[in-house]
Amino acid sequence: MQFIKKNYGWILVSLLASLPLLVIFKMVDINFSNGFSLNLIEGAGAEGKTTLEMLYHVSGEFAIRWMTAVLTCTPFFILFGVHNLYVRQAMGIATAVWSFIHFIIFILAEGFLETFTQVNYIAGFIAIIFLIPLFFTSNKGSMRFLKSNWKKLQSFVYPIILLSLLHIVLLDKTWLIYAIVVGLGMMLRIPFVKKYFIQRRKKRKTIKS
Ligand code: HEM
Repeated sequence: MQFIKKNYGWILVSLLASLPLLVIFKMVDINFSNGFSLNLIEGAGAEGKTTLEMLYHVSGEFAIRWMTAVLTCTPFFILFGVHNLYVRQAMGIATAVWSFIHFIIFILAEGFLETFTQVNYIAGFIAIIFLIPLFFTSNKGSMRFLKSNWKKLQSFVYPIILLSLLHIVLLDKTWLIYAIVVGLGMMLRIPFVKKYFIQRRKKRKTIKS
């Protein structure tokens, strides 16, 4: 019970991030009876999409949603003074895992070399490459080992979101809402804006107490 009380934040993120896997598993038929085979269940898509389109949709949407959520952690701290490193790391892992699932679906459906046939795929691919070191260092041990370099590594998240947005814009999919949320967060990071909001928050706190 003590463990759950202390760690409920990242446990909740892990559960929320895992739930859409149930949707994915409903759309594929995994068979171990004769080695290993994986087939798409036709007609399992919704909203007029084929099963494959639905798989791209679910995995791509969750990848970009978690990525946007990670980028709201710092603005959330600036505005409300609330920060939880483990929750942030769990969100980062969810981002990377959903991006990898998205790419694995693509490789299985189209083949790896197809990645280099369109600019939007190449943008997504570079984002995935940048995500790999972030995925492996989203833990306390790596933080201790990398010291100040850990923070530098975390700044990879900025080219990653720009490349991911470029990928989605070029695909003509829903991107504006993510760009607005990320853009507002970037504005809050500008040093004088950040200083203003932190001071305002601290002032309010002292008035209350
Ligand atoms: C090598 C990397 C990637 C490849 C090859 C790839 C490929 C694709 C493909 C084939 C689609 C479906 C396009 C269509 O329906 O016309 C798609 C959609 C999408 N991708 Fe990617 N992607 C990659 C990386 C990423 C990354 C890193 C993100 C974000 C974190 C992302 C987010 C999305 C989103 C949000 C959609 C739209 C889903 C929808 O609403 O249908 N993708 N991607």
